[in-house]
Amino acid sequence: MALPTTARVVRLAARPAGLPTPEDLTVAEEALPAPGPGEVLVRNRAFLVFPGLRTLISGEGSGLPMPHIAPGDALFGPALGEVLAAPGDGPLRPGDLVTHSYGWRDLALAEAGHFTPVPPDFPEPLALISAASAGYGGLTRTAEVRPGDVVLVLGAAGAIGTVAGRLARLLGAARVIGTTRSPAKAERLTAELGYDAVLVPGGRPFAEQLAEAAPDGVDVVLDLVGGEQLTAAVDAARRGARIALVGALSGQLDPELPGGSAPTVIDAFRICTLGASLRGFTLLDHPDLEAEWRERFGGWLRAGEITVPWTPVTGIDRAPHALTRLFTGDTFGTTVVEL
Ligand SMILES: NC(=O)c1ccc[n+]([C@@H]2O[C@H](COP(=O)([O-])OP(=O)(O)OC[C@H]3O[C@@H](n4cnc5c(N)ncnc54)[C@H](OP(=O)(O)O)[C@@H]3O)[C@@H](O)[C@H]2O)c1
Repeated sequence: MALPTTARVVRLAARPAGLPTPEDLTVAEEALPAPGPGEVLVRNRAFLVFPGLRTLISGEGSGLPMPHIAPGDALFGPALGEVLAAPGDGPLRPGDLVTHSYGWRDLALAEAGHFTPVPPDFPEPLALISAASAGYGGLTRTAEVRPGDVVLVLGAAGAIGTVAGRLARLLGAARVIGTTRSPAKAERLTAELGYDAVLVPGGRPFAEQLAEAAPDGVDVVLDLVGGEQLTAAVDAARRGARIALVGALSGQLDPELPGGSAPTVIDAFRICTLGASLRGFTLLDHPDLEAEWRERFGGWLRAGEITVPWTPVTGIDRAPHALTRLFTGDTFGTTVVEL
């Protein structure tokens, strides 16, 4: 079979002042070299649309786990694809499914070590590119959820949050509370995704809503938002609370903020007197997590104990619009571009 000689790639055209719009990105057809020694060629089936791209495109923030994206650079991120060509002396064969980080293009060409095979019996291969593993890491490695805990997930309607409700339950939580800015999303989260209560900050004072939903306070916070929601969560923390800082949507996706920070007022005195902990989590610091996650996640998916809600967008030409949809909150669960 003749291999493709061109690929379609999404690149940043210009660095935007606020949130990127579709006009800031280009989708172009480019020459694709033949695979060199040790290289693997993969046809992507889908790639992840994720909020971290706002930060990487903005050029803001320091100490990030991924490099900034400059004008002219290709976007990148988690992807699922099928091997078209691989070295004969390696483990991959044409037809194998792999995950990798060369999303935002229809064909990925890189050294074999950049591709991770999907176990042949994995129940839902696309689910492996969702960011949900970061929620699992935050809940198990940083917050260490225990049986009976009251767990609060700030930012429950996205890729991590829509899975974290059920995860917290599976890990023993007695009550799981979430937040979203959308009443319609709140309904879905309680009806379908394991949340006992979902609060919508913005109407009634958030602290008041939180006091009603968790009258005795919260033991665990999985924070994907930061800002005012985190301020209120610290105020609602119980003695010995564990607060896992996993994301910062309020700073990343606010058009008025530069995208690389999430300024937040924290009552340090309260953290101290409660003996609470407030700790960051990043997947890069936990290389051992992926194998454990794949094992447990596969089992939970197979048993129907976890579902992964999707917002699919079809075709690479729609990819720039998919990013805008994510930034404006017009998505639910994990957003992917399907090719
Ligand atoms: N630590 C790690 O290793 C790691 C790994 C992956 C991701 N993350 C981070 O975790 C966070 C969540 O990621 P995700 O993939 O779950 O997100 P996501 O799926 O992209 O979340 C999208 C949701 O964000 C909410 N949102 C949009 N603008 C917002 C704003 N200004 N304030 C609050 N919420 C807003 C919207 O929900 P509403 O309609 O409810 O507002 C939208 O549905 C991000 O900060 C991401 O960078 C961390």
